[in-house]
Amino acid sequence: MRDTSRLEKILVLDFGAQYAHLICRRIRELGVFSELVPYDITQQEIIRKRARGLILSGGPQSVYANGAPLPSEKIYGMKVPVLGICYGLQAMVYQNGGTLYRGQKREYGKATLRMVKSSVLFSGISKPMSCWMSHGDAARKLPRGFEAIGKTSDSPYAAISSKDGLFAIQFHPEVSHTEQGMRILSNFVFKICGCTRNWTAGTMIEDSIAEIRSKVGKDDKVLCALSGGVDSSTSALLIEKSIGRSRLKCVFVDHGLLREGERARIEKTFRPRLGDNLVIVDESKKFLAALKGVEDPEEKRMIMGREFIRTFERESRKYSHNFKWLAQGTLYTDIVESARGGASRKTRSVIKSHHNVGGLPKDIAFEILEPLKDLYKDEVRKIARQLGLPIELARAHPFPGPGLAVRIIGKVTQEKLDIVRKSSAIVEDELQSAGLLSKLWQAFAFTGDDLATGVKGDSRELGHIVTVRIVESKDAMTADWFRIPNEVLERISNRITNEVNGVTWVTYAVSSKPPSTIEPQ
Ligand code: XMP
Repeated sequence: MRDTSRLEKILVLDFGAQYAHLICRRIRELGVFSELVPYDITQQEIIRKRARGLILSGGPQSVYANGAPLPSEKIYGMKVPVLGICYGLQAMVYQNGGTLYRGQKREYGKATLRMVKSSVLFSGISKPMSCWMSHGDAARKLPRGFEAIGKTSDSPYAAISSKDGLFAIQFHPEVSHTEQGMRILSNFVFKICGCTRNWTAGTMIEDSIAEIRSKVGKDDKVLCALSGGVDSSTSALLIEKSIGRSRLKCVFVDHGLLREGERARIEKTFRPRLGDNLVIVDESKKFLAALKGVEDPEEKRMIMGREFIRTFERESRKYSHNFKWLAQGTLYTDIVESARGGASRKTRSVIKSHHNVGGLPKDIAFEILEPLKDLYKDEVRKIARQLGLPIELARAHPFPGPGLAVRIIGKVTQEKLDIVRKSSAIVEDELQSAGLLSKLWQAFAFTGDDLATGVKGDSRELGHIVTVRIVESKDAMTADWFRIPNEVLERISNRITNEVNGVTWVTYAVSSKPPSTIEPQ
């Protein structure tokens, strides 16, 4: 973990709520660094991290359940303010001597919160407000020294506080359905914990540079995996700024599963900036051979992860000096989804083993350098702009490392690759012409083995079904399908069936994340 001891920070203790990380995001949006940590973090670790405040997240369990996750009781006596949210309220009540109703006070959905006592937590909020509830257990008797500061019709203890800087709310301030959620979090962070706003693109850059310099020795060399997306490009620029150009080599791998025109785009954008420090290698035959016949998406990711590493190892051996480090543009969200390390490891299941995280082979000839591993995509985009990357690149849609391998359901074949590549180019082209592309998180086409009947000319033809997937999102942890104007969808559909061989049907994906994911595999 980077050394953020300089920074004021709020630690979010993770009790396994699916969206615990959203609390972190909201705090960072307020301009204060926040980090998700395991629920059983020790007092020493909290002191070492110089936390200005603690937030106890929600979680799916009952505090009375066998083996329920509970924080160290010492956190309540540390003179560091604590805010419990949902399960966090229940844990605080239970551990301080109060009692709870078990499962009888179910409250789900919107409720109206009325303030019953003035509290700095509700500073600036005078009227009843709507809030989002989702809980089974609820406080029955408050611990000594606590009082109610807010209630709903079903929860007399919807918000509570103690004189010792302990606060708790039964509802979720981090979700947009809670009207004044940001105000409540802001009151906690600034008025109660006394933080100042200092988490900016500038501090993120300084902080990353300090971390890279502290890790990479004076004579160490770094090989940077450059995919041309915003994450790896920003990573490369940060490393260049930290250690200079002479000890850095950026390798772009053409693995045969790229989008149309991708390799040429890389040449154009990066050759002038990096000169000989950019190496482009064509390994498409190796990658496609390794994927031959493979249908399982997790297996595809593992194969891609392994082939990437082997390629970098081969490249490293080509130069007289050895590269100690392999730099990747891994983001915080990649780590959360792959359930690797830190808070995620204990309470989360693997959603997808992102090729550069869960897909790494065990025997690697490098140490891994991930300067962006604590950051969200929108934070990386801010840094990218500040470092001078062109706006088109800073805003570019994410493209998964395993490339089209995860946009082809079933076996990867040349026919399906051509279909996905050409159809995706049409999707992007039409959205660009309609002025929509830059407003969206991702837009592409995918296909599988399902065939449907069509008529081309006068004859019956069996062809592939292509699905168009366009989503809006802020950080890829949740996403909504894009309500695309009919006429744009119609143009996309017509062009795909007319211009792409072997396609008879076009469908539009109308599933959000959750329950779906963004990529089909
Ligand atoms: P999902 O499909 O999990 O994707 O909703 C979330 C975001 O991550 C991207 N993605 C990947 N990126 N390697 C990557 O570098 C991967 O294996 C991978 N899988 C998904 C996806 O495009 C989306 O932006």
